[in-house]
Amino acid sequence: MAADYDAINLSQGYPDFDCPDRLKELVAKHLYDGKNQYPPMAGILQLREQIAAKVKSYYGHVADPETEITVTSGATEALFDAVHATVTVGDEVIVFDPAYDCYEPAIQLAGARAIHIPLSVPDYSIDWERVRTAINEKTKLIIVNTPHNPCGSILTRSDLDNLAEVTRERNILVLSDEVYEHMVYDGLKHESVLSHDELKQKSFAVFSFGKTFHATGWKLAYCVASKEITTEFRKIHQFVTFTSASFIQYAIADFMVECPEHALDLPEFYEEKRNTFCRLIENSRLKFKPSKGTYFQLVDYSEISDKSDVDFANFITQERGVAAIPLTPFCETPPTTKIVRFCFCKDDSTLEQAAALLRDL
Ligand SMILES: Cc1ncc(COP(=O)(O)O)c(C=O)c1O
Repeated sequence: MAADYDAINLSQGYPDFDCPDRLKELVAKHLYDGKNQYPPMAGILQLREQIAAKVKSYYGHVADPETEITVTSGATEALFDAVHATVTVGDEVIVFDPAYDCYEPAIQLAGARAIHIPLSVPDYSIDWERVRTAINEKTKLIIVNTPHNPCGSILTRSDLDNLAEVTRERNILVLSDEVYEHMVYDGLKHESVLSHDELKQKSFAVFSFGKTFHATGWKLAYCVASKEITTEFRKIHQFVTFTSASFIQYAIADFMVECPEHALDLPEFYEEKRNTFCRLIENSRLKFKPSKGTYFQLVDYSEISDKSDVDFANFITQERGVAAIPLTPFCETPPTTKIVRFCFCKDDSTLEQAAALLRDL
């Protein structure tokens, strides 16, 4: 719709700036060096070794690249594989609304049922009492997402302790969608399930190179899980895609060795973008609390309009020239709040043009 109405696109979550030049050179190098045939099913070993070094240094987790790391075609594939490796007809999966939109279709396709628990407003935290009540013998998987799309909230250490407690001595696995791991602000820390001794044994931890390297179109990601869980995960991965783009895997493996500062600099880079966007809309009638993580910012438009979030997103896209995403598609029950999501992983000039229009609302 943004394209149809020539609106500035702050809706879908992808950067309007390019990935690092050196990374593109490495992709071209490996493409022309003939790295163009099927890589191993789990991904090339060099890349899995780099991933192992990364999760060790960031999360203190020792993962065996041979048996505990699998490269996938985007986090979307990893999430699908994890769901299908875990649940079947009659099983239940707990998801938290608003929930990223690929969880439910994967659950349904496996014949299982998604149990939606709303996050508690205004800080979009998990109500662990509700989780305890929702769990029964059919519950086989809990999906968490931190930092959270679309809410920009993050799980705390105490959330991870609660997650460990509710799944303790039960046949329940955890699927932790951590694709925005490097986008956490204000001195806060990303709490990965891989840094939690109990959770790391029972979790699929999913990360995306697309988010980290500003290359969402390459669809390259990975899943870290124990050997037993990875064995089941690969049974699905083998027949969904078998493997993922070869030359990009070689390029990313080299880039991780050459430029470790890229990931280290990301929190500051995106915090600056968040601050710019928030400063630019500060004097508008949109109300917000700055995101703690991700490259999304929720805003409350209740001072401007009574419209539903879908109608308001349509209105500002079609008539005010800025595209936003409503929360309704992320929820089983449409939210009563007047909130939409903007994406700030854009050039400052894009954010300035969009904000000028938003200040007129
Ligand atoms: C929370 C979340 N999970 C997963 C994905 C999918 O990542 P990928 O592009 O690597 O498939 C996205 C993409 O927007 C996302 O926001």
